[in-house]
Amino acid sequence: MARHLITSALPYINGVKHIGNLIGSMLPADVFARFQRQQGHEVIYICATDDHGTPAELGAAKEGMDVAEYCEKQHRIQADIYKAFHLSFDHFGRTSAPQNHELTQHFAKKLMENGYIEERVIKQFYSNTDGRFLPDRYIEGTCPHCGSDRARGDQCESCTKVLDPEDLIDPRSAISGSTDVELKETKHLFLLQSKLQKDVENWVEGKALWPHLVKSIAKKWLTEGLHDRGITRDLKWGVPVDFPGYEEKVFYVWFDAPIGYISATKEWSDLQPQQRNWESWWRGADDVTYTQFMAKDNIPFHTVTFPATILGSGEDWKMVDFIKGFNWLTYYGDKFSTSRNFGIFTSDAIELFPSDYWRYMLLSRAPEGSDSSFTWPDMQSVVNKDLCDVLGNLVNRTLQFSIKRFGAEVPEAGAWTALEENTLKEAEAALAEFKTHLSECEFRKAMASLRHLWVLGNQYIAEAAPWDAIKQDEPRARAILNFAMNYIRVIAIASFPVIPESSRRMAGFLNVEIDPYQWLGSLAEEMTALKAGHALEKPEILFRKIEDENVAECEARFGKNEQGKTPETMTA
Ligand code: 2FM
Ligand code: ZN
Repeated sequence: MARHLITSALPYINGVKHIGNLIGSMLPADVFARFQRQQGHEVIYICATDDHGTPAELGAAKEGMDVAEYCEKQHRIQADIYKAFHLSFDHFGRTSAPQNHELTQHFAKKLMENGYIEERVIKQFYSNTDGRFLPDRYIEGTCPHCGSDRARGDQCESCTKVLDPEDLIDPRSAISGSTDVELKETKHLFLLQSKLQKDVENWVEGKALWPHLVKSIAKKWLTEGLHDRGITRDLKWGVPVDFPGYEEKVFYVWFDAPIGYISATKEWSDLQPQQRNWESWWRGADDVTYTQFMAKDNIPFHTVTFPATILGSGEDWKMVDFIKGFNWLTYYGDKFSTSRNFGIFTSDAIELFPSDYWRYMLLSRAPEGSDSSFTWPDMQSVVNKDLCDVLGNLVNRTLQFSIKRFGAEVPEAGAWTALEENTLKEAEAALAEFKTHLSECEFRKAMASLRHLWVLGNQYIAEAAPWDAIKQDEPRARAILNFAMNYIRVIAIASFPVIPESSRRMAGFLNVEIDPYQWLGSLAEEMTALKAGHALEKPEILFRKIEDENVAECEARFGKNEQGKTPETMTA
């Protein structure tokens, strides 16, 4: 039995996330966690809200709320949504938890002791109107590169160039809009990443199995050279800096956020003392395989800056083994935008269609090799073709016919013919492929193998045609239905990491339960699990089709694309 530590990038606290965030980190991590649990491995899947930084403060200000209360409320909102998507976190914590304060301060202390933190005096904008410093997104102005008047102190949203606050033309406060701002001296702690360059390089060098996207981003940052970076801010909300003279400052959000992976594990273990201690996952944990999931913008922080923090601590913290990085999911080829109400957010998504429609659809279109574009017609096509016409058809047609002709119980088995033997042979291969793809985090390929498994079942029932067989050979009709029902049970177990709710429903129709910690044995054996006479439940429709008018409604409500052009089809 192996031990798998799994984390997905911590979503910012400021508001409900869009479906791109879901497929770019949490959903694939959940599938991987469920799959590894089924393989009998010990798994811990950890996530949390990223509660600090200017997004939290500005979000709270916009709602006229106290930051702590705002974070409390938003945490609950996000947690409820992820529950509705059946994300099986062992713990969904918060970076504002006391455990994260403690660990962040611990890391800073170690880095200081080891000579990797230094105090520097820098210039920062100060707003006379607001009576405070304006770090990062608190200062806005005109971009010197593209002329956009919505550039922020750290980056221009429009042309994405990284900026220093001094670069901004006509700087103004993002809080009050006041232009009465001046550059003032302030002292800050800097993490001397330049001194850790070699250590990080050596560590990255050892990661032969990292995907190309991940490795190339890490290499690019290392080639450009690691810069020392300010890890404190003149803000009130955040992890307090517990060094003398820093009473009014907090740690920078990107310093404390990844430490949140560790501290959320500690939160979990503090809540469940009977479980294995959090340290068994994080300290000297050579028996643990650690996999992280994230979108490409997060890759530098996980391949270079967080590793620098850990290596600089000189302690034996568990470091990531495998990073699964994703490109962007776009909406009709365009960026999702909250302000323009463009795209589809998880809260609306889950009200429109059951979670499994989203899970399967998004995983089939995971932005792995390149960016991938979401469109409503493509959603319709995936749901209708794969879920309804293939899987749903197999399940509902088999069970309805059997119950109608032979009652609510599993019919007698019979000798397998070449048709059954061949179906099983192909299913064995599809299942093996599915398993390999999932263990390698190749989600598109895994979905293709899973679909193939469903297709084999659907082809089987169409070809074996018990509705014809019954006319001349009733025992053969029973044998076909027995085989199909056992095959449905196999599919329910195999599909569980991807469509857990539907798997449970399929199993429910067959009056059996899915054990989340149990994978399949040999198919020959699994195909005899349901014996003749086993009582069946009344089946319901497994999946419902998305109609053309639903597509039109969704396009009208959520937007097609800005120019109103014909939607592009999904990129392969
Ligand atoms: O990009 C983001 O959404 C960040 N909140 C991710 C943080 S990941 C980890 F380091 F905490
Ligand atoms: Zn710009």
